[in-house]
Amino acid sequence: MKSEKYSLLVEQIKALIEGERDVVAVMANVVAAIHEAMGFWWTGFYRVMPKAGSDVKELVLGPFQGPVACMHIPFGRGVCGTAWERRATIVVPDVEQFPGHIACSSLSRSEIVVPVLSQTGDVVAVLDIDSKELSTFDDTDRQHLEAICSLIAPIF
Ligand code: SME
Repeated sequence: MKSEKYSLLVEQIKALIEGERDVVAVMANVVAAIHEAMGFWWTGFYRVMPKAGSDVKELVLGPFQGPVACMHIPFGRGVCGTAWERRATIVVPDVEQFPGHIACSSLSRSEIVVPVLSQTGDVVAVLDIDSKELSTFDDTDRQHLEAICSLIAPIF
């Protein structure tokens, strides 16, 4: 069952990141662990980063598993940029019904985006997971993926 797989995954991630400080290494192993355990199609992080030569921030592609993806996403754009703006998880059962969805791949049909919130409540990254099927993600995914993002938040 999905919730049992997630419970094991959360324990695995706790062990993996114990004592680790490098945020890229942690993101890399966390996406690999999620992707392998759950069999998702695309799993990755985008980090909130300053745009080169300006104070404006954007999402920049971080460690991921799956096909190549968009590297820059503006605040409030697409599902990722909207989750950043709302500082809340977004579950999209059908990406075609989400206004402004950014189609990195035409194969993506549904997705979930979970923000990683710093201790001060700022979004420092988002975890984006895409599926080739409609309605893949539900409250079980949201709950466990939010728990994983809370576990790694202090490392950012
Ligand atoms: N679908 C995302 C863009 C990122 S890719 O799917 C990996 C969005 O609309 O934010």
